[in-house]
Amino acid sequence: MLEKLKTLKAETLIELEEITDAESLRQLKNAVIGKKGEITTIKRSIGQLAPEDRPAVGQLANEIAQELESAFAEREELVKAHEMAQSLEEGEIDVTLPGRPVARGRLHPTTRMLRDIYDIWADMGFQVYRSRDVEDDDTNFTLLNIPPHHPARDMWDTFYTTDEGVILRTHTSPGQIRAMRDYAPEPIRVILPGMCYRYEQISARSEVQFNQLEGLAIGKNIRMTDLKGTIAEFARRMYGAERKVRYRCSHFPFTEPSMEVDVECVLCDGEGCGVCKYTGWLEICGSGMVHPVVLKNGGYDPAVYSGFAFGFGPERMAMLRYGIQDIRYFWGNDLRFLEQF
Ligand code: PHE
Repeated sequence: MLEKLKTLKAETLIELEEITDAESLRQLKNAVIGKKGEITTIKRSIGQLAPEDRPAVGQLANEIAQELESAFAEREELVKAHEMAQSLEEGEIDVTLPGRPVARGRLHPTTRMLRDIYDIWADMGFQVYRSRDVEDDDTNFTLLNIPPHHPARDMWDTFYTTDEGVILRTHTSPGQIRAMRDYAPEPIRVILPGMCYRYEQISARSEVQFNQLEGLAIGKNIRMTDLKGTIAEFARRMYGAERKVRYRCSHFPFTEPSMEVDVECVLCDGEGCGVCKYTGWLEICGSGMVHPVVLKNGGYDPAVYSGFAFGFGPERMAMLRYGIQDIRYFWGNDLRFLEQF
């Protein structure tokens, strides 16, 4: 038995010398000094030996177990160091490898459209004024001369919130009130871009969210001819100097008189095509002279001040420019669509 223990020790030490990985080390340790290991088995069988042999075998078994224990611990350190060195070596950065391609981000077609529109208006002296997306009913409607329960409200299907009187703006026109209250009695020349929300049936032509770009000019002696000239100038810069524009009578509660502006169809040059529904004209904005009630609500005396306002649809404009057939692509987040721009 003593011989067997000594051989076991010698063999284990030799085997240990060769181990370089944690897994083999663990296996060997289990096999020799683990719960079911050889030394443990020997210790358990001591009771079967002749009584006079027991102390010597027991003592040697304990000694060897201890020695091996520290031999294993020592080896464990070595193995750890070895594995660390190996992983460092493997993890070394090869600077000669070709890099991973970085996907290039793009601007959303609406953003591109908006930036071009800003540029034109900036040239014409209009600065950007940011107004809130979450509005109150008063500013979105009542102060714009659309009292509660007035049938004109049907023009804007509204998203209401659980907070009484808090809604998502249905157009950028409430920004007129905010800008006026900010500037009164100074003259104003601003554009108000931003997302609008309408509780509407989604179709190829209309979405529940879309941008509008409002314009507002307030001052003394601002007349309808200023509005016409300003819009015509914008249309020429946007669609080309040769483009014809026409004005049609219309109605908005917050402008009087009101008009809608059409530009000669940019796709067929006014010949008539599917996009302009064979009329040769495309509607580009609603506009008019700011209603006296609205001027007053904004803090301007309508006897002294006047102004004009207009509202464009940047997505519709982008659809024309890029030949996009369906407005739902804008917020569908389909990369195949977005990557084209
Ligand atoms: N706010 C109007 C709409 O959403 C557009 C508009 C803006 C009309 C400014 C006149 C003046 O339909």
